[in-house]
Amino acid sequence: MADFDAIIIGGGPGGYVCAIHAAQLGLKVACVEGREALGGTCLNVGCIPSKALLHATHLLHEVHDNFEKMGLMGGAPVVDWAKMQGYKQDVVNGNTKGIEFLFKKNKVTWLKGWGTIPAPGQVKVGDEVHSARHIVIATGSEPSALPGVTVDEKVVVTSTGALALTSVPKTMVVIGAGVIGLELGSVYARLGTQVTVVEYFDAITPGMDGEVSKSLERILKKQGLKFVLGAAVQGVFVAGNAAKVSYKLRKNDAEASLDADVVLVATGRKPFTAGLGLEALGVEMLPRGQVKTSHFATNVPGLYAIGDATPGPMLAHKAEDEGMAMAEIMAGKAGHVNYGVIPGVIYTTPEVASVGATEEQLKETGRAYKVGKFPFMGNARAKAVFQGEGFVKLLADAATDRILGCHIIGPGAGDIIHEVCVAMEFGASAQDLALTCHAHPTFSEAVKEAALACGLGAIHA
Ligand code: NAI
Repeated sequence: MADFDAIIIGGGPGGYVCAIHAAQLGLKVACVEGREALGGTCLNVGCIPSKALLHATHLLHEVHDNFEKMGLMGGAPVVDWAKMQGYKQDVVNGNTKGIEFLFKKNKVTWLKGWGTIPAPGQVKVGDEVHSARHIVIATGSEPSALPGVTVDEKVVVTSTGALALTSVPKTMVVIGAGVIGLELGSVYARLGTQVTVVEYFDAITPGMDGEVSKSLERILKKQGLKFVLGAAVQGVFVAGNAAKVSYKLRKNDAEASLDADVVLVATGRKPFTAGLGLEALGVEMLPRGQVKTSHFATNVPGLYAIGDATPGPMLAHKAEDEGMAMAEIMAGKAGHVNYGVIPGVIYTTPEVASVGATEEQLKETGRAYKVGKFPFMGNARAKAVFQGEGFVKLLADAATDRILGCHIIGPGAGDIIHEVCVAMEFGASAQDLALTCHAHPTFSEAVKEAALACGLGAIHA
């Protein structure tokens, strides 16, 4: 038995960041993680491996579509799937080992195993019970189940199985046109799989800016993905190595089905808190399975929760920021997360990124706003790399010009959104962005032009 200032349960982006920062602040810290490697879903079976496959297949797409245009001649490369999987695993291993190194560097103890909380102030891992003044639940999330669908991670897979298929399927049905469905659907479409995405709502990426969603659908269709929208999946039936996905169209209740070699279920995730012993401790939970918190504190003294196990967007960077704030609070400082400025990114090509309010939300609240929009067609750098599709849409208060939101579909969207995030953190106006010198030629100039469009007008449109 060891005594710690803080024990963090879960070694994903929320947990490991919290552990490292708490150690930086002088606390004696342990992090409990039962996986073979640190990093949680994000590093092991989520964000990082999917980005490796997205990168590899994006380059393949470039060879097919754009190499000849640039005078780069020669046959397209043959895909060695096993080798691509190996590359993906190397990327994962490099990152997870990196966290292990950071734990050693910051003197964070990794308690290997699955933790439970037998009593307030105690964490049990294996046969050992450890004590701590602060315990943080950072146990993340798992794919949510869909009624009528049994996942076997071979024919019917979640994102975890989809990242590790033994071969590239000929056909794939993706259930859910959210982030996972579109990213992994893109990976397989680029590898030659016939991908059909079935979505319950009438538009893809529900909740996202409507114009961005429409543009993304149009562009992905051009890339070969098919969409069945307004369709509620009723069940998946597996026979041998193939599956049939049955769905009902919401507008007329018409029933139909699709055959596929692989079915990817990407209909959302749910908090993962089973086995912690929260019920016995009397921890208050919310109806959707999240731990109820107030400024990260649960109703049990000394017990906190952050990340996907709590309400809010299930995003690694939201969890990381909560981990930082949590560490500050445990060290007796003020920890704060600005939930109004949390960017969201979809790593398709083109990328999609957004922060702050959407136009739809502003309309709903009756806030007077103005729109500054700039197409990447007017951005020299984007055109040079065959990515002139898409736009930057900046939303600003009609009276004060304060930036309220930004929605981007285009090259590098996931990176260039951050200048808007910083601007929003400082309460900047669109004019502040427009007056900031932007290097030429960069994708970021499209943000400056959108800011100009909130005033007298963009220059290159
Ligand atoms: P999601 O919530 O983004 O999308 C799920 C989609 O499935 C929705 O569009 C929903 O309408 C649809 N759906 C639900 N039930 C259905 C049914 N019966 N028939 C047809 N469609 C149905 O969830 P997703 O993509 O599984 O991602 C899970 C979480 O992981 C999200 O919170 C996401 O933000 C996060 N994530 C973030 C990434 C990123 O930041 N790039 C990458 C991957 C995941």
